[in-house]
Amino acid sequence: MSTLLAVSGSPSGTSRTAKVLHLVIRRLAAEGHRVRLVSVRDLPPAALLGSDPDHPAIAAVARCLAAADGVVIATPVYKAAYSGALKALLDLMPQRALAGKVVLPLATGGTLAHVLALDYALRPVLAAMGADHVVNGYFLHDRLLHDTDDGGVRIDESVRLAFDQVVDGFITALRHRTPSVQPTTPANGTAQRVVVEVRTSTASPTRM
Ligand SMILES: Cc1cc2nc3c(=O)[nH]c(=O)nc-3n(C[C@H](O)[C@H](O)[C@H](O)COP(=O)(O)O)c2cc1C
Repeated sequence: MSTLLAVSGSPSGTSRTAKVLHLVIRRLAAEGHRVRLVSVRDLPPAALLGSDPDHPAIAAVARCLAAADGVVIATPVYKAAYSGALKALLDLMPQRALAGKVVLPLATGGTLAHVLALDYALRPVLAAMGADHVVNGYFLHDRLLHDTDDGGVRIDESVRLAFDQVVDGFITALRHRTPSVQPTTPANGTAQRVVVEVRTSTASPTRM
């Protein structure tokens, strides 16, 4: 069992990236991992834009990150890179906040021209934060994300296997990391959501 932090880097209220991240969280929870979720959208803009690492919400994220064995970072591609909101958050984390953690980078984007945004834009930032074990990531074209009746998304069959294999790789890397004994995520596959409010739902992660 690992303690994990899932980070949604989309500022959108109808984020497809966040919906993909929820699929990953469900999978990780089903494997018995304890997953916390933070979305940049829930964080106070003044703290992000004013670079205030001491704001309680930002400090809470830093604590969750410090406690995590692994981190899933999911971002939309904006202007050929990760989102500015994600960068604002990462800028406020301690310098080597990702040292010793397994990191899974994910992106959604609107054009295959930017399929390498994870490698050229995000990976150098992760490396600068001390990440020494960044597993293979995945870029999902947004037209391969199909809306579902419950408000989520379904990944197109044409890439589903490849995406699942990337998540499998993350799970395998976690298994080979020194395991920590932690309580598991509830069996309904929800994640504990940090920072803003407490909400419990079987359809979406809970917030703390
Ligand atoms: C401001 C903005 C800039 C974008 N720039 C790019 C881009 O440079 N390359 C790309 O592939 N997609 C780009 N997109 C498309 C988004 O990456 C894509 O629709 C993504 O799935 C949106 O994720 P979200 O719903 O989580 O925000 C852009 C979208 C927005 C809103």
